[in-house]
Amino acid sequence: MTPPRRLNHLGIAVASLDEGLKVWRDQLGLAVHEVVELPERGLRIAFLPCGETMIELLAPLRDDSEVSAFLAKRGPGIHHVCVEVVDLAAATGHAEAAGTKMLGAGPSIGAEGFPVRFAHPKSTAGVLVELLEKA
Ligand code: CO
Repeated sequence: MTPPRRLNHLGIAVASLDEGLKVWRDQLGLAVHEVVELPERGLRIAFLPCGETMIELLAPLRDDSEVSAFLAKRGPGIHHVCVEVVDLAAATGHAEAAGTKMLGAGPSIGAEGFPVRFAHPKSTAGVLVELLEKA
């Protein structure tokens, strides 16, 4: 398997985008590249590039959003780490053969519009890992 390319982004759960933008834009000086709403996942997401990688702020639009349980349990903080791979099927196959439990039946399309697949944090030492294929 070709090794992963880079850390694509860090996903950070916040109670609101205002809370996250206060830190990453106002306090740390990053620029906002894009804000997207994904109603089907209950999320509002802001992307703030930082060199070769990106900060992805994930805020809930409703109580049953994809980050609501995380926020209720742990409060705001690092939610996932996204590793960019050359070939998602090959990377997933390699990960599974090495004992990683992948979530879902197959890839889905992530917030950036590229195919992604998550690994269960119980099989990755507590870190929710997102694998992303960018052609
Ligand atoms: Co992500």
